[in-house]
Amino acid sequence: MKIIITKDYQELTERASQIVISLMEKNPQAILGLATGSTPLGLYARLVEKYKKQVISFSQIKTFNLDEYCNIPKLHPQSYYYYMHWHLFNHIDIKPENINIPKSGGDDYDVLCQDYNEKLKENIIDLQILGIGNNGHIGFNEPGTPFDKETHIVELADATRQANKRFFNSIEEVPQYAITMGINNIMQAKKILLLASGLAKADIMKEVIFGGVTEEVPASILKTHSDVTIIIDNEAASKLK
Ligand code: F6R
Repeated sequence: MKIIITKDYQELTERASQIVISLMEKNPQAILGLATGSTPLGLYARLVEKYKKQVISFSQIKTFNLDEYCNIPKLHPQSYYYYMHWHLFNHIDIKPENINIPKSGGDDYDVLCQDYNEKLKENIIDLQILGIGNNGHIGFNEPGTPFDKETHIVELADATRQANKRFFNSIEEVPQYAITMGINNIMQAKKILLLASGLAKADIMKEVIFGGVTEEVPASILKTHSDVTIIIDNEAASKLK
């Protein structure tokens, strides 16, 4: 695992965008795995800026998002569909047919999981961007999720619903279930970039970096992947010293 500690969030964003841009320059048809949440927002803003300056193009890029809440309309302001369009897709030249976000509507969730999983098997992700939950989750793979899981429905942990309630009016509004790529899917990516920012991530980053590989800390599996870069700002790295 390569670990890059940056002085602040801005530098984290800069370093992360350099990695993504350099991949896109080398491979204009790259397949990107994307995360939502607060952490990649700076990265997406930077990618939009570089697209507007014609440094990069998304015209042949394909994307696969990690997860989506269940039972939330696509156009709900807190759906990950809405988030991705608002922060990235509406501002770049990506083809709509190249955007993949787990579907969470309809009633047959087994079929939705299977469809997403099949698409993932046909499209090996070149670079997977990850954030990390305060409890060590990646995607919505909560502590205790078997490492061999593929796309599945998850009941969100209380800690995750509490952490995400800042985006909703109340805890009751935070969805209880989500559809997520499994850890097994995430581990198929050729390269993984994990971003962690802020004091709230300090304890879990210490556990991920110094602790053992255990299903109780889903992100700990990343230590067994051959090409992982962690970019972590000073606050999130404050317990590593
Ligand atoms: C989002 C996702 C989650 C977040 C994690 C950190 O698609 O898969 O694992 O990356 O919850 O969220 P933030 O960045 O808001 O701290």
